[in-house]
Amino acid sequence: MKIIRGIKEMRELSRKAHEEKKRVGLVPTMGALHKGHLSLIQRARKENDAVFVSVFVNPIQFGPKEDYRRYPRNLKADARLCGQAGADAIFFPDERSMYSSGHGTHVCVEGLSDILCGKLRPGHFKGVTTVVAKLFNIVDPDTAYFGQKDAQQAVIVKKMAGELNMPVTIKVLPTVREKDGLAMSSRNAYLNDRERSDAAVLFQALTLAKDLLKRRFNDTSLIVRKMKELINSKRSVKIQYVCVVDPRSLRPLHKITGKALVMLAVKIGGVRLIDNIMVNRNA
Ligand code: PAF
Repeated sequence: MKIIRGIKEMRELSRKAHEEKKRVGLVPTMGALHKGHLSLIQRARKENDAVFVSVFVNPIQFGPKEDYRRYPRNLKADARLCGQAGADAIFFPDERSMYSSGHGTHVCVEGLSDILCGKLRPGHFKGVTTVVAKLFNIVDPDTAYFGQKDAQQAVIVKKMAGELNMPVTIKVLPTVREKDGLAMSSRNAYLNDRERSDAAVLFQALTLAKDLLKRRFNDTSLIVRKMKELINSKRSVKIQYVCVVDPRSLRPLHKITGKALVMLAVKIGGVRLIDNIMVNRNA
């Protein structure tokens, strides 16, 4: 597994791939890779001739009280997994090369970045879109792959790429789940046994929303209330939000009449987890 640390070297590798008419796929990550990331890399492998995985714990998407310092880092394990999943190289830049001192240029998708998770994590999505724009500029991928677990991020990145005319296709792939339904996340590793077992309630709540809709309950205030009751039955889980929104605008829906995104964010112990599912009244 090739590990590329320099921006110039990464650019050169991608330029060569394009010159050879290769399709270039990028999977942007912060490392601590799990099966969710691997599904993205495997799909990128199927659809491209050159597959790059960026591993960069992006400081500017973490708030001052968040887990930037303790975010899990394990390049050796990540490199092994990337190799097994079929990546050609890891792009592993250091913080100083990505953000020189006095860095002052940011990309922000207004309207979508300060609601839901953005309201609770001010500046988070501005940090995400800035680093993703930089990665797109450096790696110049034809296609970039993101997970549906970070639904708001996916919507924001798509809008950024579209509105800034970035020549990249954004693909969003389904959430990969543990046996009990918990969405794979690098942060699951922070949970103790009790918290890990309580965390199964998140997928149960999302499934409850789907079941209620199947039974023709499409009033979102009822769905959200029932979900909250279920989640609150686990003492270690503290709800940050539960909502049903339009999948593109992320604005709240009062009734589900077609497709809708059911989203939640909670804290379990000190660990913040998010999850979502898409539902469809007409399915
Ligand atoms: O989803 C993530 O891991 C990060 O937000 C991303 C897209 C790699 C940007 O740092």
